[in-house]
Amino acid sequence: MDLNHTPPKAVWPAELSLGEGPLWDDRSQRFFCVDIHGCAVHAWTPASDQRQSWKMPERIGWLIPRKDGAGFMAGFQSGIVHLTLEPELHWTPVAQPHPGEPTVRLNDAKADAHGRIWAGSMDNDDPARRTGRLARLDPDLQCAIVETGIYIANGPAIAPDASWMLHTDSFLNTVYRYQMDPRGQFSAKTVWRVFTEEEGTPDGMTIDSEGCIWIAFWGGACIRRFSVDAKCLQTIAIPASQVTSISFGGPDLQTMLVTTARVGLDAAALEKHPLSGSLFTLRTGVTGLLPLAFG
Ligand code: BGC
Ligand code: CA
Repeated sequence: MDLNHTPPKAVWPAELSLGEGPLWDDRSQRFFCVDIHGCAVHAWTPASDQRQSWKMPERIGWLIPRKDGAGFMAGFQSGIVHLTLEPELHWTPVAQPHPGEPTVRLNDAKADAHGRIWAGSMDNDDPARRTGRLARLDPDLQCAIVETGIYIANGPAIAPDASWMLHTDSFLNTVYRYQMDPRGQFSAKTVWRVFTEEEGTPDGMTIDSEGCIWIAFWGGACIRRFSVDAKCLQTIAIPASQVTSISFGGPDLQTMLVTTARVGLDAAALEKHPLSGSLFTLRTGVTGLLPLAFG
C-alpha cells in the first residue's frame, strides 16, 4: 500500500555543490548535512527555520553522533576525525583508512547497534579508479579495512540488530547485502539489486520502522522505498536530478530530509531543476529510526 506523503518542499535552497550526509540530531532537534565539495557542515532547525554553517578544513562526507555527547565523528577526505562544532570548531584525527592515497576520500558512513562505524571511500578525482574501500571503526578506535576494490562506496543501511548490511557500489549501480556476525565479520556477500540506467544510480539509504529500505537516486530525480527483499514499493519524485541521500527526523521521526547536488549539471539541467543543491523535506507517512551513535 502506498504511503500518504506530502510533496517535497525546498526548505533551504542552499545551492550545495554535493549536498550529502543528512542526519537528524535528536539532542539539538536539528538536521545536519554536509557539502562534500563545498567543505562545509550545515544545520537546519525545523522548529525555527534557523540555518547554521561551519567551514571545514577539507572535504567532508558525513557526521555521526557520539554516544558520549562530545560532538561527532566525521569523515574528512583524509580520514575519520572527532569533530566538535560547538562551542568551538575543533577536530582531532582518529583513523586513516586510505593512507598514501590523497585523491581518495571518505564518502558515506553509518554507525551500527554495536557502536561501530562502517565507512566507505572513493577516488574523488577519478571515480573509475577502483581504489574505494570499506572500513570499520570499532568503539576502541581500532580501524579495520574489510573490503578493497570498490569504485564508489555508498549508502550503508544497517539492520537494527546489525545482522546484515546493505552497501552500494554506485559505479556498478549495484546494492549488495552482507551477512554479519556480532563481531562485524562478513559471512556472505550477495547482490541485493542491480538498477538500470533509467532508474538512476543508488546513493544514500535509510531504513524505516517497518523494516523498509529507502534509497536516494542520483540521476533519478527520486527516492524509492523497497521491501527488505528488494521489491520497489513506492517512488517519490524530487525536483532535483542528483538526489544524494535521505534521513528521517523531526520530533516524530516522520519528516524526511533529502539532500541533492548541483555538481556536474550543465545550464540546461539547471534550468530544468533550478532547485538542485537544495535541502528538501517531506512528511513520509511512516516513522523512521533514530540514527545510531558511535562509541
Ligand atoms: C558521491 C558522488 C557520486 C554520487 C553518485 C555520491 O555519494 O559523493 O561523488 O557522484 O555518489 O555515484
Ligand atoms: Ca552518498
